[in-house]
Amino acid sequence: MATKEEILALLKNREDFVSGQDLAEHFQMTRSAVWKHMAALRDMGYEIESVPAKGYRLRFAPNTMYAHEINAHLRTCWLGRNYRYETEVTSTNTVLKELAEKDAPHGMVVAAGHQTAGKGRLGRKWSSAPYSGIWYSLLLRPDFPPQMAGVITLAAAVSVAQALEQFGVPVKIKWPNDILLNGKKLCGILSEMRGDMDHIQWIVVGIGVNLTATEATMPEEIRAVATSLTISGFGDVPQNPLAAEILNRMEENYDLLCAEGFAPIRAEWMARGAFLNESITVNTIRGQMEGIFRGIDGDGCLLMERVAGEIERIAAGDVTTKNQNQK
Ligand code: BTN
Repeated sequence: MATKEEILALLKNREDFVSGQDLAEHFQMTRSAVWKHMAALRDMGYEIESVPAKGYRLRFAPNTMYAHEINAHLRTCWLGRNYRYETEVTSTNTVLKELAEKDAPHGMVVAAGHQTAGKGRLGRKWSSAPYSGIWYSLLLRPDFPPQMAGVITLAAAVSVAQALEQFGVPVKIKWPNDILLNGKKLCGILSEMRGDMDHIQWIVVGIGVNLTATEATMPEEIRAVATSLTISGFGDVPQNPLAAEILNRMEENYDLLCAEGFAPIRAEWMARGAFLNESITVNTIRGQMEGIFRGIDGDGCLLMERVAGEIERIAAGDVTTKNQNQK
């Protein structure tokens, strides 16, 4: 028995109407079963015309991150092959962390249309209005020591940047893993993990990409520092192919990290690093530090030159700069 997704795939490939009789014969089901599948697809947001004596025609497909929509663009072996979409959750990181504790597999992805309590780094909130962006989390069970969790997150930032570039969006990465477009934040990444001294049990990498917010709908408190693809003039980038491409790139980069270590990912990060060789301020738990940003080291730590010729490593913090405009 065909699924509604198979019927949908057929409708997507046909510009003209397909009769209920033809669908019933093609999928070897009754016309009433065809009708039920059409009703289910309409409930999912697909607009399907139905004209007597002509049949059915797909008029509009929603941007919803349904498994079958993402799957159509995935080239991965293990990432996103176990995929769950929820209309609304508190936070995809929270949901996936709970699943990780219950033995969810390496590579599982949880995506949502809306997060009611989206989480950002350093205890901040992440604004995730319904259907205005890509909100998803990836579960990884690496065979790495916990000190390497940071480089996995940097690999995620590189993956998002590479995927956006593939769709013609020129971005930079602000250490450690903010994606900037025209100097404003387009995407944030929050990694959470559980492990012991020498082993990571799981790491959940949460990725949020702002897509359709406008100046008017972007929350006022982040308007000066955040952007979306729509605001920046890249509103044509298709959501689900982009979401799938981020997963494609992440699987490649993660496998590269396992095979060759951080060096090749570091090179990709450095090629996109924002504010390289410029004055920056980093807020750390040790207080504020100012100096010239000299890139990242082999562990993903920020390198800062405060006194000429002396380089200091910073493992965690928040970067600000007087000139937020991307160079
Ligand atoms: C940041 O830059 O502060 C990190 C933002 C991370 C947001 C994403 S959206 C999907 C996932 N679920 C969350 O609650 N947060 C991350």
